[in-house]
Amino acid sequence: MSDFAIVSDAVTKRYNGFEALKGVSLRIPRGVVFGLLGPNGAGKTTLLSIFTTLKRANSGSVIVEGFDVQKEKYSVRKLQGVVFQDSSHDGELTAFENLFFHAKLYGMPSDKSRKKILDVLELVGLSDRKDDFVNTFSGGMRRRMEIARALVHEPKILYLDEPTTGLDPQTRNHLWEYLKNLRGTTTIVLTTHYMDEAEKLCDIIAVIDHGSIIAQGNSDDLKRIVGGEVILVRSSDNIIPVLKRSKFKCSVDKHNGIFEIRVDNAEKSIAKILRVLERAGVKISGVDVHRTTLEDVFLHLTGKSLREESPVDFETKSYTNLGRVN
Ligand SMILES: Nc1ncnc2c1ncn2[C@@H]1O[C@H](COP(=O)(O)OP(=O)(O)OP(=O)(O)O)[C@@H](O)[C@H]1O
Ligand SMILES: [Mg+2]
Repeated sequence: MSDFAIVSDAVTKRYNGFEALKGVSLRIPRGVVFGLLGPNGAGKTTLLSIFTTLKRANSGSVIVEGFDVQKEKYSVRKLQGVVFQDSSHDGELTAFENLFFHAKLYGMPSDKSRKKILDVLELVGLSDRKDDFVNTFSGGMRRRMEIARALVHEPKILYLDEPTTGLDPQTRNHLWEYLKNLRGTTTIVLTTHYMDEAEKLCDIIAVIDHGSIIAQGNSDDLKRIVGGEVILVRSSDNIIPVLKRSKFKCSVDKHNGIFEIRVDNAEKSIAKILRVLERAGVKISGVDVHRTTLEDVFLHLTGKSLREESPVDFETKSYTNLGRVN
């Protein structure tokens, strides 16, 4: 058996001539948390819909745990738990009943499912609402029900399409912790446009934009693409010749009156750089460090921010959210 839970090859999807996926090939190892990170409309939900047999690809193939998603739908579906963007609960049933019927559908014995349902309701913080009708729940609570349902039958592969959108920070953290504990036994594929979510949770991140995977790796791999981190120094002296003389391995530039020193690792370099500057008698009025984020990676690869469709204006971008690439 291969080490991969999911193998997709050159998957394409068109909607009325519009190419939503342009040949997506991915190898997702078993037991990892795999994150699909991309802006609105990138193709994340479309790809998940194909992996989970809800949509058919126009071309290419997807094999999930050895089963072909187009030819062996039923076998594929049995393995998976899915949390989609849109809620699909029966509001006329209580939280417990919803989960109980779901577990039955997956052939779980009643005793086992009762215990498991109480566990997952506890996890999503809905234990005290278990006997309430779902149509009395708030949006966030419905979302939490959705997550509970995906987990109740202990799926081998868990798909989460923007799982924490609309959740309060406490539930979000709670869910992250829970998902981390599933690592190793369950393969988790999640989509998100939250970089912190991708960063904290995912072993592997694939960045998707306009239907194509544009980068893939763990968060350190991805950050290396940007090529270094930035130390910002405010000074009325010119530090460029000082640093050049010091032979310190860095590149330095001045933008909007602030010196930007690009280094491999800001944390390791900052003390040395400050020593060099102080020894040369440079007066420093402020120092800041900009560690590379996944947002920078996206910006570097696409020239636009994950959240905005418009190209970023490098010149006017503020230093409080510095995503500058040279
Ligand atoms: N049923 C559909 N019919 C026509 N176009 C569609 C359909 N579903 C998706 N699209 C288009 O395909 C592209 C990818 O959509 P998709 O929902 O996969 O993006 P996404 O990455 O999940 O975005 P979001 O972050 O907003 O959820 C978008 O341009 C979208 O408008
Ligand atoms: Mg989506």
